[in-house]
Amino acid sequence: MPVLIVPDGREQDVTGRLMRFSKRTEWNTEESALARAHRERVGAGLPVADLTASNPTRCGFDYGAKLLESLKDDRALDYDPQPLGLKSAREAVCKYYLGHDVHVGPEQVVLTTSTSEAYSYLFRLLCDPGAEILVPQPGYPLFDFLAVLDDVRLKNVPLVYDHGWQIDPEGFRRAITAETRAIMLVHPNNPTGHFTKPWEAEVLAGLCRELGLSLIVDEVFLDYPMQGGLELKAASFTAGLEGVPVYVVSGLSKIAGLPQMKAAWVVATGPQRAAAMERLEVIADTFLSMNAPVQWAMGRWLEERQGIQEQIRKRVQANLAELDRQLATEPVVRRLGVEGGWYAILRIAALKPDEQTVRELLDEGVWVHPGYFFGMPEAGWLVVSLLGPEAEFSNGVTRLLNYLGTNQIGYKSGDLV
Ligand SMILES: Cc1ncc(COP(=O)(O)O)c(C=O)c1O
Repeated sequence: MPVLIVPDGREQDVTGRLMRFSKRTEWNTEESALARAHRERVGAGLPVADLTASNPTRCGFDYGAKLLESLKDDRALDYDPQPLGLKSAREAVCKYYLGHDVHVGPEQVVLTTSTSEAYSYLFRLLCDPGAEILVPQPGYPLFDFLAVLDDVRLKNVPLVYDHGWQIDPEGFRRAITAETRAIMLVHPNNPTGHFTKPWEAEVLAGLCRELGLSLIVDEVFLDYPMQGGLELKAASFTAGLEGVPVYVVSGLSKIAGLPQMKAAWVVATGPQRAAAMERLEVIADTFLSMNAPVQWAMGRWLEERQGIQEQIRKRVQANLAELDRQLATEPVVRRLGVEGGWYAILRIAALKPDEQTVRELLDEGVWVHPGYFFGMPEAGWLVVSLLGPEAEFSNGVTRLLNYLGTNQIGYKSGDLV
């Protein structure tokens, strides 16, 4: 008879016991009605103008014919398992920061295959099971999954919109408990495009100093400020953050428009940085997930990033201008202020659930994200990506506004946004 010795030393009969999965993977993986409707429409060959496009490799940018040549470096034939990543690749990351007037050394950098993996390393570095991390909301939806996988609890703290987004310092203070370990910032944020201002960084740094917290700053969109906007500083390294352990995450997926190459990093600054790096090195050594060809190629891709960045900035700017041009003729929808990144948020009247509006828009041939996807209130918000090809974007916005205008699902002039 199969027996199991339980921790107190007793034997337990486990005959017929059912295999169980972990609680953390108890997700509802059923396809949503919205996703099904989209799949069926695309499958039927009906037109869909995609206003959710976020994969730069599928948006018609020119990466140059030689990009993959960097992968042919013979040095990649040698396996040199460096837990933090090859020094030359980490130096390339330092050079990138130098371009932002920031001096960091390769001993402060650990390479990862994605910012998702970078987050996972940081959660394991800073958190025991059940620990909490504060995250501004609206925000990037993948964070919830990343946290659950590492047994960390994310607590959302609402950003406030009043002629522009800003943090609510009191909201952060109220959300902190004895279990809180870190505050997360996305600079600029996805999808709000909100840049952390110096006063906001200082307030949050003050909280971190007072309560022994770390700051995790995601700067994947750092190189994409809106034209005529603020001068963009790497917030993670601004003056007010002295005395705070800061972990910056970023990577090639946005900076070089190369999500498929799987290269990202954490840069550690502030007090206890050496101890943190020692621990991060052990975490990274356990996985050794970076591959050699990409590490040898990273320097070149980072050096040549301006080529793709300029195309992306131009595209985002053109699509934003087109959106505004069409919005000017259809005052039922308002666009919220945006300072950077690849997205714009639209305010529509909350007359019905956004899921229904998005479904009806799909029937009109345009695909947008409902705001709740990014943690916004249930009704009244749509998020559009500004990355897609210009003709498709323009067509999508026309369909969107025609539908919302015809059905008066929007704001009338004079209403508040
Ligand atoms: C704020 C933010 N961080 C990270 C990522 C993903 O980066 P990676 O592809 O390196 O995991 C995204 C993707 O959209 C994002 O919006």
